[in-house]
Amino acid sequence: MPNSVILGCGKGLGRIKVFNSEIIEKIMEAGGEPTTDEWIQERTGIRKRCFAAPKETTASMAVKAAKNALRNADISINDIDAIILATVTSDYGGTPSSACVVQKALGAKNIPSFDLNAACSGFIYSLAMADALIKASFRNILVIGSETLSRYINWKDRSVAPLLGDGAGCVVISKSSYGDRGIIDWVLHAEGNPKVLVIPAGGSRCPASELTVDNNLHTLQMDGKEVFKFAVQKAIQTITLLIERNHLMLNEIDLIFVHQANMRITNAISEKLKIPREKFFDTVSTCGNTSSASIPIGLDIAEKKGVLKFGNKILLIGFGGGLTWGGCYCIWGK
Ligand code: UT7
Repeated sequence: MPNSVILGCGKGLGRIKVFNSEIIEKIMEAGGEPTTDEWIQERTGIRKRCFAAPKETTASMAVKAAKNALRNADISINDIDAIILATVTSDYGGTPSSACVVQKALGAKNIPSFDLNAACSGFIYSLAMADALIKASFRNILVIGSETLSRYINWKDRSVAPLLGDGAGCVVISKSSYGDRGIIDWVLHAEGNPKVLVIPAGGSRCPASELTVDNNLHTLQMDGKEVFKFAVQKAIQTITLLIERNHLMLNEIDLIFVHQANMRITNAISEKLKIPREKFFDTVSTCGNTSSASIPIGLDIAEKKGVLKFGNKILLIGFGGGLTWGGCYCIWGK
């Protein structure tokens, strides 16, 4: 059976560049505990991030990323058979899905379109779903990760406020004409834990009320230390599994795209697996943590910079809320 390949990629970052100094100001204004540019850079690697402009949304940034990816893949929206959009910050509270908003904006006709929530692993989950649909006879699929996390920040919480950014990344997944490149293998996991990474209110369990707004329960709350340990452990397990299962040596891997949450998570994975640090592609310093969008944004930047080349063996590794994690082994090229 032919593999699925990544035919093209694109991104659409939030329009407003926000430096650490502005984040620090907002935290101070909100009455949060003090922080510094030095702390943020040293403990997270983040210098700046992009925030959505007032009229931008998860769907609008996704549309921008999708148009760029379609252009890059050199195919028309009429050739697309499905849209899968990974997000935890959909345009609407429940329905319609952001994928349906994107479908309308792109002028796609009648194709299945749905959101997928697996938090920061959402892009990997969506890629796996697209791979399965391609093997079931779909021709081309838009796989998007898009987030507007800036609208879920508790500005009093200095441990989360500096981390988050907005943006979208998109890939076009297609059936390969050749057998030796594309998506070779993937793995998905979850271990339900509603405590360590959560937006407590706004769902059916705790609908919006004055109380939920007053108590900042519509913002992202995280036990950073726990999530950090989980992320390092699961990323290492996933890389090891994909390497072993595909009879690879670690040094055969050209580039690794791990979810961009914190530079120190990537450093720890590199150190523990003894993989040279330069094999990990970083965007966290300029984009912050964009959850499901971070991996496809990284792919687009790496491809446009010429770092990601035809024939490269790459690993994509996601981890995040749920808790969820997963990975994908690909050989780059159409
Ligand atoms: O995308 C989903 C996945 N998300 C992640 O993977 C995020 C994972 N976690 C992290 O990135 C890190 O845990 C954080 C950046 C959130 C926190 O860094 P840390 O090195 O783990 O800090 P910590 O939570 O262990 O806190 C160390 C100290 C604490 O002070 P005390 O208790 O030692 O006095 C915090 O209150 O650092 C303090 N702290 C800060 N200090 C200055 C926490 N945030 C800040 C801050 N500025 N912004």
